[in-house]
This record gives sequence, C-alpha cells and structure tokens, in this order.
Amino acid sequence: MRLFVGLDLPDLLRERLTALFGSLSGARWTPPENLHLTLRFIGEARRDVAEEIDDALAAIRGRAFPLTLTGTGVFDRAGRPASLWVGVERREPLEHLHNKIETALQRIGLPPERKRFQPHVTLARVDGIAEPALARWMQTHNLLRSESVAITHFTLFSSLLGKERPYYTAEVDYELGPGQG
Ligand code: 2AM
Repeated sequence: MRLFVGLDLPDLLRERLTALFGSLSGARWTPPENLHLTLRFIGEARRDVAEEIDDALAAIRGRAFPLTLTGTGVFDRAGRPASLWVGVERREPLEHLHNKIETALQRIGLPPERKRFQPHVTLARVDGIAEPALARWMQTHNLLRSESVAITHFTLFSSLLGKERPYYTAEVDYELGPGQG
C-alpha cells in the first residue's frame, strides 16, 4: 500500500480553504475531503512494513498544538507552475512532530527524506494556467491567514491513485497529549 503521514485538517480550516475554490479559473481544486498537510511521504510499503510503521508512529509521544494557515505558494514541475498551496505559520511544535516522525521512521529502516520539510496544504493543480492569472491570484490571497486551530492527532493515510484524483483513507489516528494552548 502507498502510505503517508499527515494532518487531517480540522473542519474550520477545511472551510477556509474550500471558500477559495472557484477563485482561479482553470485550477483543478483538491477534493475537499482530500485537503491535508503531509508530514512525511512514505510511498509503497509491504503490509509487514506498514505494521512496523504503525508501531513506530504509535510510540511517538507528542503534544497537541495550534496550527494557523498563512501565505500561499506555487510548486513548479519541469520549470512550470504545477501546484498551488497554502502555507502554515512556522511554529516549533509542528517542526518537532515532523522530526519525531522522521526519526522514528529512520529507526525502523526507512530511507531518510532528502527534501526539506516545507509544510503546505495543496489547494489545486494549476498546470496550464497562464502565469499572469496565477500571479494575480497570489497577490490577492497572499495575506490569507486562518484562525489558529488545535491539532490533537496525526494520521497514517493510505493513498489510492485514481485516474483523475487520489483517494485517501485515514488508516490510523495517533493522539497527541494535552498541549499548552
Ligand atoms: P503534495 O500535496 O505537494 O502533492 C500524498 O501523495 C501526499 O504526499 C501529497 O500531499 C503529496 O504532496 C505528498 N508527497 C510528498 N512527496 C511525495 C512524492 N514523492 N510523491 C507523491 N506524493 C508526495
């Protein structure tokens, strides 16, 4: 199965993002139920490895923390804009949780993630959209900032690649202990 570790977005944040849908013509918006923040992409894993991953994640002791969505950005593929995303306010607890997950997964033998952690929620696929239109959208929404919402668990997702879109299933939720607000 194809796996990744991420945060399922609380409804309030999901609503903030879906309110932007339709605001850029030609964008292929992420299905609302797919909106998430990836903490660690894993990829294909055999069932026995998936079980080890589950054990490793279950042993992580973390604390709930507040998450605020802010700012927008674009990832390029082959030198052209490919995906449009919303960022998160840099906060220590998210980095900390990410590091714990990375360490736990390396300890059971997964190869290290080489890409720098750039927390984001992918809003839309934007390949084929004229760059000036994309730039205008970015300018309009660059000051976007959500409420701060408590994150109380992280999740191991499986992903099935459909023809038009992936289908994600939350396989296991891992609770975070009481936070500091
Ligand atoms: P994205 O949102 O920027 O597309 C499931 O595929 C999730 O894992 C997606 O959120 C995707 O990021 C992320 N991801 C990170 N690295 C990936 C990779 N090498 N292949 C596919 N998805 C990846």
